[in-house]
Amino acid sequence: MEGGTMAQDLFVQRPIEIKGRRIKNRIAYAPMVSATAEDGRIVDKTLAFYEARIKGGVGLCMVEGTNVSPDQFREFMPQVTLHDDERAETHKALVDIIHSYDCHASIQLAHGGLMAVTARILFPDFMPQVPTPPHYAERPWMPVSGIDLLKDPNYVAEAMSAEKVRQTVLEFARAAERAKRVGYDSVEIHGAHGVLIGNFLSPFYNLRTDRYGGSLERRMRFCLEVIEETRKAVGKDYPIFIRLSVDEMLGDLGNSVEDYTSYIIPRLVEAGIDCFDVSMGSVQHVPDGMFPSLYYPRGYFMYLARLVKNIVPVPVIGVGRINSMQQAEFHLRRGDCDIVYMGRQLFADGETPRKFFEGRTEETRRCLGCLQTNGANICIPCTINPDVGNELYCEQKPADRKKRVVIAGAGAAGMEAARVAAERGHEVIVLERRTFTGGTVRILGNTTLMHEFRNLNQYHAHELKRLGVEVRTGVEATADSIAALKPDLVLVACGATMTIPEVARGKPFVLTHVEALEDKFKLGRRIMIYGLGYGAELAIALHDEGHEVTLAGRGNTVAANLSSLIRRQYLMRKLDPDIDLPMKDILNIRLLKNAELVSVEDDGWVTLKRKQNKQEEDCKVQVDTLVISLGRKSNNELLADLKQKGIEAIAIGDARTVGEIYRAIEDARATARRI
Ligand SMILES: Cc1cc2nc3c(=O)[nH]c(=O)nc-3n(C[C@H](O)[C@H](O)[C@H](O)COP(=O)(O)O)c2cc1C
Ligand code: SF4
Repeated sequence: MEGGTMAQDLFVQRPIEIKGRRIKNRIAYAPMVSATAEDGRIVDKTLAFYEARIKGGVGLCMVEGTNVSPDQFREFMPQVTLHDDERAETHKALVDIIHSYDCHASIQLAHGGLMAVTARILFPDFMPQVPTPPHYAERPWMPVSGIDLLKDPNYVAEAMSAEKVRQTVLEFARAAERAKRVGYDSVEIHGAHGVLIGNFLSPFYNLRTDRYGGSLERRMRFCLEVIEETRKAVGKDYPIFIRLSVDEMLGDLGNSVEDYTSYIIPRLVEAGIDCFDVSMGSVQHVPDGMFPSLYYPRGYFMYLARLVKNIVPVPVIGVGRINSMQQAEFHLRRGDCDIVYMGRQLFADGETPRKFFEGRTEETRRCLGCLQTNGANICIPCTINPDVGNELYCEQKPADRKKRVVIAGAGAAGMEAARVAAERGHEVIVLERRTFTGGTVRILGNTTLMHEFRNLNQYHAHELKRLGVEVRTGVEATADSIAALKPDLVLVACGATMTIPEVARGKPFVLTHVEALEDKFKLGRRIMIYGLGYGAELAIALHDEGHEVTLAGRGNTVAANLSSLIRRQYLMRKLDPDIDLPMKDILNIRLLKNAELVSVEDDGWVTLKRKQNKQEEDCKVQVDTLVISLGRKSNNELLADLKQKGIEAIAIGDARTVGEIYRAIEDARATARRI
């Protein structure tokens, strides 16, 4: 199937019916907050966002978590809502667009519950409604927002009265009625990830003693009433889906998987649910189910979907780290689920299904699972597809005049610029010092933990070949060699070099983070990684590959500079015994925080000065390899040389300003669209 001839009778292409409504294939767009609405209304930005996700051929589009309750709505938040008739009308345009692609239009109905607590940062008057006020005084866990529960006065929410609960039940039903009226083909009730219904279901969030709390049966009452009233509102022939975190990832504190499979789900079948969407985790405490990062295997909680599929008579949706159509096909064929949700993959490349159906799979840009916060929101814009969220402003036009563009450096920025410039009609030559393309991002992908980072170069390499870009590897680009190519324009994409502190320079066993991964054969058994930021990731990766690892650095926690809070939390759970987080699972990696690198001897002894309890003490560790994971410095000497020769040149990516992958890609794409 890869890239060439297509196997016939693919499971992904088989239509499916839910309550008599035909869905053309088994790939669905997952509910993903788009942050595009204005004052709760669907606007052009929202329409463009959704069109970009579905035009590639998904059979079903689940519109993002949509507010049902007037109480929970806050003006100016980019939140989609169905809590009133006037705003509901704005959904008609969205439904029309979805239908114009022969796609089933569904919408997820949500009440934020405890998840809405982060809104208090922007709206201090806002009071989240929950079954029981937060009771975590003895559990200072850090939610996804990064708020420290113990210290943050915002972390308050109001216990709902029984009347309020009942009113909210009816709000769900009214929202469902509006959804049906404006043309949606079904609704999904959001009961996963620690939103209100999930809060009511869970013994951790629900400590009530009235009819809505206590036993599992009573904790289910709110959910069952929502279904009952929704059914009355939409009629017996209208499909109602539900999303559940079948593993709440709260260990003994939450419902067990068994609670879901032996009690909750059978009761929901009786209540008339037409499709189960199986997810995992809770945003406040262990978000790795709602936001699975690249640290987890692809499809890592599909087994939960299969458990559910084995016990229900209706279709089941599986989800989680599916970043190729082949993998979706694999899960469908194996019988894990009936429909596969793709979320972030359709951010990375909205054309994923079509490229597969047309035998062009290798043209697909595959999600890295990086979960970066590149703007105000996770994944919007996407690290490797900066157009996500900017659909209205990212038109790419053919070049006015064809130019000969030489690009020095075949890292992420150089390759992206080459791709876009070639697509626009320029003649492009790429020069790369290394014998391979992909630069630092590809090298970072040289461990099992980080292997998804290799996706980017795979995509770029394929695209550059397809577009006829000449890529010369093993070539040092100098001002003279470039001048000989007679370029109209040069893009300097030589990346950045990692710095090594003075005390560690010149020792053969000292490597930078990038060198360590580029030449892994140079790594000894005993490794110290100095630098607690991305060094934390490297520590786990090398530990997993059998090294004896010490992680040291100046800070007082690990991964503090990662822009992905989800990855950060994972690293803390694996590395920092002092942090109180659920699902903590400390690896056998020695962690030396608050440690200043003092000296490095030729025989491998490394001395650190550690501050502990206001005392300073020296700590000596003997290593085979010292890996430095600190700052980087732009490689922009070539730019100056070119300018001196009067050659027009622009630095892009890290060569211009050192930053995260997103910045490099975005800069490269924007520059290549301008030239
Ligand atoms: C930016 C973003 C927004 C999301 N918004 C929602 C949401 O509104 N409702 C929901 O149930 N899940 C939401 N999710 C979870 C996704 O629906 C999906 O389950 C998750 O991303 C895993 O699937 P994937 O690996 O295909 O992305 C969101 C995830 C992301 C990354
Ligand atoms: S930002 Fe990263 S995780 Fe999110 S969609 Fe893009 S590549 Fe995937």
